[in-house]
Amino acid sequence: MTTVLHQAAEHALGAALISLGLQDVPARLLPCPKPELGHAAIGSALQGAKLLKRSPMSIAADIAVAMSGASGIAKAEVAPPGYVNLTFTDDAIAAALEAQAADPKCGIPGVPAPEKVVIDFGGPNIKPMHVGHLRSLVIGEALRRMLEAIGHDVVSDIHLGDWGLPSGMILAEIRHRFPEAPWFDQAAQGPFPEELPVSVDDLSSLYPQAAAACKADESRMEEARATTAALQAGQPGLSALWRSIVALAKGRILESCDRLGAHFDLTLGESDAQPEIPALLAYLEATGAARRDGAALLMDVVASEDRHEVPPLVVKKGDGSALYATTDLATILMRRRDLNADRILYVVDGRQHLHFLQVFRAAVKAGLSGEAALEHIAFGTVNGPDGKPFRTRAGNTMGLVELLDLAKEKALARLAEGGRLKDSSSEALDDAADAIGTAALRIADLSSHRTTGYILDLDRAVSFEGKTGPYLLYALVRLRAILAKAGAAGGHIVLQHPAERRLAIACLGLGDAVHRAVKSRSPHELTAWTFDLAAEVSRFYADCPVLGEQAPEIQASRITLCSAAETALGASLRLLGCRVPPAM
Ligand code: ARG
Repeated sequence: MTTVLHQAAEHALGAALISLGLQDVPARLLPCPKPELGHAAIGSALQGAKLLKRSPMSIAADIAVAMSGASGIAKAEVAPPGYVNLTFTDDAIAAALEAQAADPKCGIPGVPAPEKVVIDFGGPNIKPMHVGHLRSLVIGEALRRMLEAIGHDVVSDIHLGDWGLPSGMILAEIRHRFPEAPWFDQAAQGPFPEELPVSVDDLSSLYPQAAAACKADESRMEEARATTAALQAGQPGLSALWRSIVALAKGRILESCDRLGAHFDLTLGESDAQPEIPALLAYLEATGAARRDGAALLMDVVASEDRHEVPPLVVKKGDGSALYATTDLATILMRRRDLNADRILYVVDGRQHLHFLQVFRAAVKAGLSGEAALEHIAFGTVNGPDGKPFRTRAGNTMGLVELLDLAKEKALARLAEGGRLKDSSSEALDDAADAIGTAALRIADLSSHRTTGYILDLDRAVSFEGKTGPYLLYALVRLRAILAKAGAAGGHIVLQHPAERRLAIACLGLGDAVHRAVKSRSPHELTAWTFDLAAEVSRFYADCPVLGEQAPEIQASRITLCSAAETALGASLRLLGCRVPPAM
């Protein structure tokens, strides 16, 4: 773990290495192999031995002398075969922690060169969201919060899938139910009625029914295709009806996103990019970035480093229609032109790897992305206990809301089993169960590296014990309860017990954990740190009574230590997107 103290020590180490003639050896601290030996270790003497033709132990001795004089260092001890173990002073640790707790940014350092970052996640289509959207929402939101916390100017966009064949399927299904409705009159120019023939509740059943009808009957599929083409060609009635349906569906979709804590600055859809497409296609053809193949338009995107075949990207089909990829290209253009994006991140299922590889190459080739960096933040699938993609008991795709409700129900059962919140109102109980269930899903998701799929075991995820969301929430709720009981009786932190030192050092690792998570684009780095912090909090409780009988200055120091831990733990849970109930 790296803290501000480690950074200061690396600075001092750099100076020491220069004075020893070892300016080419990186001034990096290593983790100390055993916590009782120190807070960090230096391996530079081993690297420098060849360069100086001296024994590692004698160089280590010189480094130890130089480091013992550095500020904030209590001990610098040589350890065979040439390491130096460092221990920070209690005063330095306490001062750093007090500064972190008082910092509105919780000691999370900003980046030297902030960027305008567009983060595209969620990616729902106009049909109910399902378990497949969970990861994009959870990983995307955590990254969004972390990028913002380190100083980037972040714009999130949902990139609603509102323009493909499903639109035609839904519209055709409505026409079957209401053949006489004014929107379907090809000649009608409008205005069209405000009131829709379907309600928001019908929306969840419309798509599955439309899909079933198309699957069972090829003529229905033909009809859906023709309707899609008519919509995309701009038939006024279909366009008006579709706009209203999208607005209705978007409301529902954003409700579920909200429940998961996902925030979108923009809620644009694929349809919003359509006005750009005719000019874009003309440009691609005129500049030679795309070539004709019959009536279709293709872009060659192979690169010399390819080990697998990368097929050309189709940007216009033979029937003249644009595709998902064309929309993505137009959207890149808009994000660059209208938002001035320096970087665009796509938090999308790893199975779309080829799509993004092709689209990014095409965008660069045609000069659509300018200087902006494009990144596919791929993730693996959520699997059930059988190792196959997570499904309902009946074997159907699990809806997102259904999954959130299931987690909430299980959280409610856990609360009841543990006799928790017995005296709370039913609203408070319901709210706590919702927060716990959602955090359970989030943390289960954010516990492994994003690129690996994982098995979602709901019972395990909602457990209050083990590496779970509820365990982390409870650690914070408990800290808050202690602080509430203590009132405002904190004082300066005086570290006396090893558990206090360990807790303080753990808290100081927050900023480093956030930066590691952003660097790897994988929030699990922060989750792992949060579990380590929670473990130190438990150890501290076990060894160091806070409100028990003891000297007033010890009590005051421990209260401040709890408060600093509360700040660090609260910040990390917020960055991971978890909502913390007042009690549990
Ligand atoms: N709606 C798409 C899907 O369901 C995901 C969109 C991801 N974002 C993007 N710009 N392509 O696969």
